[in-house]
Amino acid sequence: MNGKKPGLVLGIETSCDETSAAVVREGKEVLSLVISSQAKLHSRYGGVVPELASRAHLEALLPAVEEALGDAGVGLEDLDAVAVTRGPGLIGSLLVGLTAAKAISFAMDLPLVAVNHLEAHIYAAFLEYPELEPPLVAFVVSGGHTLLVYMPRHLEYEVLGETLDDAAGEAYDKVARILDLGYPGGPVIDRLAREGDPHAIPFPRALMRDGTYNFSLSGLKTAVAQYVRKARESGLPLRVEDVAASFQAAVVEVQVEKITRAAREKGVDRVVLAGGVAANTYLREKLREGLKELGASLYHPSIKLCLDNAAMVASLGYRLLGEGMISSLEVEASAVLPLGSR
Ligand code: KG4
Ligand code: ZN
Repeated sequence: MNGKKPGLVLGIETSCDETSAAVVREGKEVLSLVISSQAKLHSRYGGVVPELASRAHLEALLPAVEEALGDAGVGLEDLDAVAVTRGPGLIGSLLVGLTAAKAISFAMDLPLVAVNHLEAHIYAAFLEYPELEPPLVAFVVSGGHTLLVYMPRHLEYEVLGETLDDAAGEAYDKVARILDLGYPGGPVIDRLAREGDPHAIPFPRALMRDGTYNFSLSGLKTAVAQYVRKARESGLPLRVEDVAASFQAAVVEVQVEKITRAAREKGVDRVVLAGGVAANTYLREKLREGLKELGASLYHPSIKLCLDNAAMVASLGYRLLGEGMISSLEVEASAVLPLGSR
């Protein structure tokens, strides 16, 4: 480490529809975090349009980097490294961030640290809770992923289970589309569900007691679509709040069962919720209750750090930098990158 402010990492995140830049000190202290969301741009299409996303990243990234440096009161010359998401994600979007990070690394002679987006989501928890340490169980749940993971030590992972079809966020977004609620669907369903009855409609709980740590949501999504279609065809009153609450209950009950079982089996007393869907208030509440019975604690980052952001990228980047895990300028973007691959 060099410079008068040791441990300063610039993080860059462009894997999906958020353009983000952040400056983080020693992997823990967020000096600045700029997030430019494209949600409005994509909302009329009910999902992210990859070509539009890459173009928007191109326009937003350099201003975001400048703003992040300005907010932190530092210049490029003060940095110790630049960390960037290289996957998984939309390839065109990833390329924008990775290319910019390479250019900064080359121009400023700074170490480049390419990071895995899923792993970065877990590292958001270490920003929010500086005292938190592994061993822990992490549930990484976003628009593209649903992963239940055992983390015995920093930078080490054992994937216990994952989704066999739709990611949880994807299911929230699709159900929101069925109900004409716009994109992203998760926050709207979360809000509407608070006014609804979670027991109103008995939607299926797939793989609830199959003994694995895998998830399946496509059957649930179809069940919601059929229920809504039938109600609309027969002209029966459709209580959107009840559909939202019953759908959410079906998703969360299975998640809580599997996460608490994983914590018990691995003998850990710390569980981290990570990724965009970790913002879900019902999941947080039910999981906290479930873990309380085990004597385990729930760690969930604030909503800003749950969603895609560059601070988590910088936090993980600092950890990798400390282990000498620096990337070459030849490192490539990767749409598919399993947890544990960097
Ligand atoms: O991690 P993230 O920002 O992007 C990906 O890497 O996918 O997650 C975005 C996803 C979207 O599917 C969005 O609907 C979902 O997270 N989401 C939520 C909530 N807030 C965002 N899902 C359920 N409840 C929420 N409160
Ligand atoms: Zn994400």
